[in-house]
Amino acid sequence: MTRQKELDRLHEEIATCEKCRLHISRLNPVPGEGPVDAKLMLVGEAPGAREDESGRPFVGRSGELLTTLLSGIGLSRSDVFITSILKSRPPKNRTPSRREIEACRHYLERQIEIINPQIVVLLGGVAVSSMIGPWKLSQSHGRFYEGGEHTFFITYHPAAALRFPKFRDVMKADFEILKQELK
Ligand code: URA
Repeated sequence: MTRQKELDRLHEEIATCEKCRLHISRLNPVPGEGPVDAKLMLVGEAPGAREDESGRPFVGRSGELLTTLLSGIGLSRSDVFITSILKSRPPKNRTPSRREIEACRHYLERQIEIINPQIVVLLGGVAVSSMIGPWKLSQSHGRFYEGGEHTFFITYHPAAALRFPKFRDVMKADFEILKQELK
């Protein structure tokens, strides 16, 4: 089976997933999107309202900022694979529960296996604590973490930079570090 086919099958599985209660309230699953041979994978927290309506990741305000950060290092959205820890929207955008994260973990792990990106960028505390541990972002952002067979990179979630503008420059600087590594 080709990697594209494997990824398509996985996304079909996500579309019918009932492993947690979020499938009841969601409008659409949001598995993620991007090329199967992407060098860079970006992982957020969970879909919001716009993503839930469209079935596409990071299409709201956070997504706009992400697109700007990517273009700042010479990449476009279509170059990277974008997804989140959860593939369904939690009601009222509440923080994902431990149980929901565990129910969804397998899907992200499979995406990472199939795409095998050079770097997996973890956007924000939920992505970081779910994948590599409870690191404080203020101390760990801008750093790489070797975990098993994959390299992770830690930065803030774009929503943090929308709420607190000082994080915008911090994220810009983090993305510059990322750019050097991708060369
Ligand atoms: N925030 C996320 O973490 N993921 C999305 O898809 C949208 C907003």
